[in-house]
Amino acid sequence: FLQPTPQGTPCQFSDSAQIFKSNIEQIYGSYPSYDLCPMAEGALDDIAEGTMFIGLQQYFSSNGSPYKLCFGPKSFLVVSDPVQARHVLRENNDKYDKGILAEILEPIMGKGLIPADPETWKVRRKQIVPGFHKAWLNHMVGLFGYCNVPLIRSLEEAAEANKEVDMEEKFCSVALDIIGKSVFNYDFGSVTTSSPVVSAVYSALLEAEHRSMTPAPYWDIPLANQVVPRLRKFNGDLKILDDVLTELIELAKGSRQVEDIEELEARNYGSVKDPSLLRFLVDMRGADIDNKQLRDDLMTMLIAGHETTAAVLTWGLFELTRNPDMMSRARAEIDDVVGDRMPTMEDCMEMKFLRLVVAEVLRMYPEPPLLIRRCRTDDVLPRGREGNVEGARVKRGMDMFLSVYNIHRSPDFWEEPDKFDPDRFTRTFENPKVEGWAGFDPKKWEGRLYPTETAADFAYLPFGGGSRKCVGDEFAYLESCVTLAMVLRRFEFDFPERLGKGEVGYDEHPKDLNHPVGMRTGATIHTRQGLKMNVKKRPGVSLVVVEQGGGIEVKG
Ligand code: HEM
Repeated sequence: FLQPTPQGTPCQFSDSAQIFKSNIEQIYGSYPSYDLCPMAEGALDDIAEGTMFIGLQQYFSSNGSPYKLCFGPKSFLVVSDPVQARHVLRENNDKYDKGILAEILEPIMGKGLIPADPETWKVRRKQIVPGFHKAWLNHMVGLFGYCNVPLIRSLEEAAEANKEVDMEEKFCSVALDIIGKSVFNYDFGSVTTSSPVVSAVYSALLEAEHRSMTPAPYWDIPLANQVVPRLRKFNGDLKILDDVLTELIELAKGSRQVEDIEELEARNYGSVKDPSLLRFLVDMRGADIDNKQLRDDLMTMLIAGHETTAAVLTWGLFELTRNPDMMSRARAEIDDVVGDRMPTMEDCMEMKFLRLVVAEVLRMYPEPPLLIRRCRTDDVLPRGREGNVEGARVKRGMDMFLSVYNIHRSPDFWEEPDKFDPDRFTRTFENPKVEGWAGFDPKKWEGRLYPTETAADFAYLPFGGGSRKCVGDEFAYLESCVTLAMVLRRFEFDFPERLGKGEVGYDEHPKDLNHPVGMRTGATIHTRQGLKMNVKKRPGVSLVVVEQGGGIEVKG
């Protein structure tokens, strides 16, 4: 409904959209409006070109938080302040649900934990969280190591053949293999092979992303699923995945073992043949557990836990390569703590600098960059940062984008926010101009795996916050540390060609459209052109991975 305009000029509405615009103004008011929020006026180019969160950042610098944004018939409130984020995610969580996100994801994830309505969510969350217990995570660290072995082999081949590698693709594959094995004991083997099941996973992910960027639910149009080729393909792929999941669920149910949570938590995972989360859920919840419920839970984990971690690894390698001093520090620590061994949980805790690197990557490239909510009961937002509107009203039914990207990249909440500076999490940061915000206090995350949202009083939200916070946070964090440690120990990377000064090169911000890597919004922040790199074996370092034991069966 919006017509493209030259960069920097206000967006224009087409004739048909003009009607919608006046409808919006009747419902929400024009500026200054019923809800008191400024209305963003900008160019469509700012939110098109696949980097919507960058456009939202430009509007944030001129409008503060919250501001209102109209897309044709749709209107969103964009929130970019830690005090308001804390209000929505933690203090008034019961007033919000997942809104359009749930509508978009329902055909794929069903009533899985991410899109689940609050009532379903309460029951599901209680059943799933105990699955991520300490003994299991400990064992998973070993599994991450095993799943990285094929990646090391494939990088070795590329190094020997002097072949350029797309590291984004490689990290996607290893993350998929890890999630398949840990969540439902399935070998995708995607680092080494391609199969219809693997392409079905990618197709489902692509469709989920496409839907989240599409203003109208075209998949709900009568007969569209039978007629539109892209939907027919998607439904076919979803069936392939559903069949695999059903078979695995039946298998797990047929071999159900124990039901006592304490017994499950005390398991000696070294001797367990199938340590997957599915096994835990079936053992815990009984053989009569609903297959559809299990299917939704598993599909949600598969999608939530795969691309997110792959993106962290991709941007981590990108930033470390751009910052050779940081790369040297990370490598020195890996050499010192892990060497040729497969990393353990204790190693991950000891590699503090590597953990700071992962934290910094999650700050600069939050996955997802926007959280989506819909207001269920009228609400009023606190002001937060000086200059924001006082007492912004949120009407019931209003859709909200909570821009984690804006909060993570704002100089109001972080010193030099565009600089890759892992050590920032060891320093205090305060800003009296943000009313009711406690700032960042490094003491508040001492002894923890990563800097939590409470250490930054909601100015750091890599895994969200409040009761709908990510259940896989520690899993993903450990997976990122193990993978980076194993790869950086053995290989050296460089960008294929250094572009000269004055042109857009690797040193520029990847949001630039001509950047050789580039940024693109999906559910996560992807590269626009892949992370193509030259890879070399690290001189004087063995490629052999010394095992820790652990009894995990990894095929292929
Ligand atoms: C929720 C980020 C890995 C499972 C979330 C949320 C974020 C997030 C921001 C909150 C969404 C919201 O409030 O709307 C990440 C990142 C990851 C990651 C950055 C990797 C670096 C994982 C993994 C799993 C997982 C590995 C599972 C194995 C989930 C689930 C939820 C969730 C089930 C929904 C929780 C609920 O609503 O109760 N994740 N996640 N995530 N994540 Fe993750």
